[in-house]
Amino acid sequence: MTKILAFAGSTRKGSYNHAIVNVAAQGAREAGAEVTIIDLADYQMPLFNEDEEAEFGMPEKAQAFKELLISHDGFLIASPEYNSSYPALLKNAIDWASRMSEGEKPLEAYRGKVAGIMAASAGGLGGMRVLVVLRMLLENVGTMVIPNQKAIAKVNTLMNDSGEITDEKTIKQLKNLGKETAETAAKLKQ
Ligand SMILES: Cc1cc2nc3c(=O)[nH]c(=O)nc-3n(C[C@H](O)[C@H](O)[C@H](O)COP(=O)(O)O)c2cc1C
Repeated sequence: MTKILAFAGSTRKGSYNHAIVNVAAQGAREAGAEVTIIDLADYQMPLFNEDEEAEFGMPEKAQAFKELLISHDGFLIASPEYNSSYPALLKNAIDWASRMSEGEKPLEAYRGKVAGIMAASAGGLGGMRVLVVLRMLLENVGTMVIPNQKAIAKVNTLMNDSGEITDEKTIKQLKNLGKETAETAAKLKQ
């Protein structure tokens, strides 16, 4: 079965990006994928420092996150847009997981994998600028990012008080992104 790992580049309580990645994950499940949703709050890593890496090795949580990436065929990633780019939290996690441990292949967490990317913001652009740089980053580490992507603008108007997306059109678009990601990952796995 195709395995998809879903996460947001935010550890904020009530994160909009958590909310949208949950919907995309549902779409991937409905397409037949096995989906694991994680919270980066459970994988806290120090800011990457090459000297500390040389002295102490890879932190346990960074290794655990990397192993999750390695054991999945594709990713659903929802990223906040911070000053037109990705948050340090997400970049730091991606950087740690790009480091090779003994017995691993270079960039094993990323090469041959598929990603579907999305962003959400209360602003009018929905984080569309972060998707440009996130796509570039993922492609550069060897992950194929599917052409479809979603930036959900004014996301706070599309949710209920429990922080779930309730707007039907948005749900349909996000589920479709999850489905396409799962289907592409399945094809690539064949
Ligand atoms: C440092 C910083 C920079 C931000 N820059 C942008 C931005 O460039 N574009 C945007 O739409 N929102 C920006 N925001 C607002 C975020 O979209 C907002 O904090 C959002 O809720 C983050 O996603 P989350 O709900 O998943 O945590 C910024 C927020 C922070 C803290």
